[in-house]
Amino acid sequence: MKVVILGSGNVGTHLGRAFIAGGNDVLQVYSRRMESATKLAGELGCAFTTRTDSLNTAADVYVIAVTDDAIADLAARFPLKEKLLVHTSGTTPMDVLQTGSSRIGVFYPLQTFSKEVPVSFRNIPVCLEAAAGSDMQQLEILARSLTGKVYRIDSTDRQKLHVAAVFACNFVNHMYAVAADILEEQGLPFDLLRPLIEETARKVMKGEPDDMQTGPARRKNQKVLDKHSELLAENPEYRSLYVTISKSILKKYHA
Ligand SMILES: NC(=O)c1ccc[n+]([C@@H]2O[C@H](COP(=O)([O-])OP(=O)(O)OC[C@H]3O[C@@H](n4cnc5c(N)ncnc54)[C@H](OP(=O)(O)O)[C@@H]3O)[C@@H](O)[C@H]2O)c1
Repeated sequence: MKVVILGSGNVGTHLGRAFIAGGNDVLQVYSRRMESATKLAGELGCAFTTRTDSLNTAADVYVIAVTDDAIADLAARFPLKEKLLVHTSGTTPMDVLQTGSSRIGVFYPLQTFSKEVPVSFRNIPVCLEAAAGSDMQQLEILARSLTGKVYRIDSTDRQKLHVAAVFACNFVNHMYAVAADILEEQGLPFDLLRPLIEETARKVMKGEPDDMQTGPARRKNQKVLDKHSELLAENPEYRSLYVTISKSILKKYHA
């Protein structure tokens, strides 16, 4: 399929690479800044523009991959009213694209993307939504060129899915950052935790998270919980996180 990508950030970059690897043609990259537009277009070997009125008109799908707050504004400036226009956001409803085109949809890849970290799309779920059945079919063809995991998920379910993803990925990563800070204060390396992190993730790939929970709150070991809280006395923010999450675990297993 022929694709134009609007946005040259983490998702625009990874999707661009994956579209090409899947045998599609990326005709053009649009980005608001010349520097980022030329950089991604250079990598993908395609044309670029910083103006929505210079968008290539020959694509089958136009993929908006810009920061969530800018999607509605960019859609309002999208000039090709009969072309299939999608965004890649978990939480933004499909309807915000209505001002851009009569043919709208969502192409949401459920993965954490950073430009500089390579990913394989083969196992990444792509969650699709489209206002029209024929457009859904187009999006399915495009998504299947990237991955075997293609799902139809509407805006309401996708928003909840995104909330779950924030817990499973973004919050977990923040916990790694908190752990790294605590170790750094003691002059200990984060490497000490890497085997534990790996094993925790490995276990949950095979079983249910509820069955895999361990730790002092799971064991309702109040002495240890109190001691940890005391050890965090100098950092009220981390202490509050510790207490809140411990309470949630206690409630789940010991209420
Ligand atoms: N990152 C992820 O893990 C992930 C995963 C799934 C879905 N998503 C979704 O994918 C979308 C893009 O995320 P991202 O991580 O790729 O974002 P990002 O790396 O922060 O990229 C942002 C892009 O948006 C452009 N932009 C920022 N503000 C803008 C504005 N006011 N007007 C026009 N363009 C603007 C930036 O342009 P410049 O380069 O010119 O500044 C850049 O091209 C979001 O909807 C996000 O929720 C992200």
